[in-house]
Amino acid sequence: MKLKTYLWTFPAWLQTIVESFLMDKKLTWRIFTVLDGLIVFESGENMRTLVDYPIFSNLFLVLKTFQRPKGSADMFMQVVVKGYDVVKPAIVSKDMKTFRIIHSSQNQLASIPDKMHRKLEKLIERVTRLQTNRSLPDTEFWFIRRSEKIGYFVQRLNTHKSKSNKLQRGELAKSITYAMCYIAGGLNDKVIADPFFGRGGLAKTMTRFRRPARVYVSDIDKNLVAQFSSSYQSVKKHVADATNLDFIKEASVDAVVTDPPWWLFEAIDDIKSFYENMLQEIIRILSKKWVAVLLIGAREEFESVVASIGVLTNERVADILVSGKKASIYLLKRG
Ligand SMILES: C[S@@+](CC[C@H](N)C(=O)[O-])C[C@H]1O[C@@H](n2cnc3c(N)ncnc32)[C@H](O)[C@@H]1O
Repeated sequence: MKLKTYLWTFPAWLQTIVESFLMDKKLTWRIFTVLDGLIVFESGENMRTLVDYPIFSNLFLVLKTFQRPKGSADMFMQVVVKGYDVVKPAIVSKDMKTFRIIHSSQNQLASIPDKMHRKLEKLIERVTRLQTNRSLPDTEFWFIRRSEKIGYFVQRLNTHKSKSNKLQRGELAKSITYAMCYIAGGLNDKVIADPFFGRGGLAKTMTRFRRPARVYVSDIDKNLVAQFSSSYQSVKKHVADATNLDFIKEASVDAVVTDPPWWLFEAIDDIKSFYENMLQEIIRILSKKWVAVLLIGAREEFESVVASIGVLTNERVADILVSGKKASIYLLKRG
């Protein structure tokens, strides 16, 4: 088994999920460094399998680590130009033909001095046979310099072509759907419902990484329901209003994991009564030992409705940004 060193960056809200995800891994992953929003680990797992994993939207192969990098950007990069004593870059797929170089200093994108930029591009072209493309490349080489006095020269492995980054319009990012399923806990052999399933982002993640006994997916939009197909036998799809899920028996569902409409974009006159009707229906279908994980846009309105219903305990697990808009992931349990 050939071990490689990877660097993974993620938004701050994912930190606790990332740490427990790595601990849970049965595969031997050795963690070297944990910084704010960044983990360096070693793994012998197939690189393509890792790249397509939904939680990795920013996974890099470490080509060189710099302890206490000093001086200007030029001096930092000079080390690479000098001997190219670094790990060989990876060609993750045959379609990988182009690259660009990025410089990140203390979590901010930074410029690269012109002459150095060209020198590095020529060097990488020679070593990898890839071509420079500064606008839409297939891979990127990053110089990352952190305030914790450590630096990395890395190659980005996820690109716009990676499965983990491919989404249909309106579909929730895979790292978010994965995190929501993770927060819901053990979903194997459970009955799950997503009553606002849209393009099916959550259902795809549930059935790819868990083995639920049954997944009820429904949406009010009949075209979306017609378009969705799943090879997972236990997925049952319906056209339905989430405030009236009469095809699901009372107390027959173990977990609801869902992403209700965002209010801002959809025409809902009274968001509070919409949330109330939705929650009453969720409470009706859920069994006694249940959880619900919801991604909510209108936080204040939602929290006041949950408080007024009273039968729920409500934990705001994470505040996140979805397409630049603020949202929160909530975990609800019977109070
Ligand atoms: C934020 S989107 C869900 C996106 C989904 N998570 C995905 O990955 O594609 C919300 C969905 O709720 C649906 N919707 C809106 N009002 C609804 C209602 N009353 N009942 C059921 N679905 C509804 C919309 O058609 C939309 O597909």
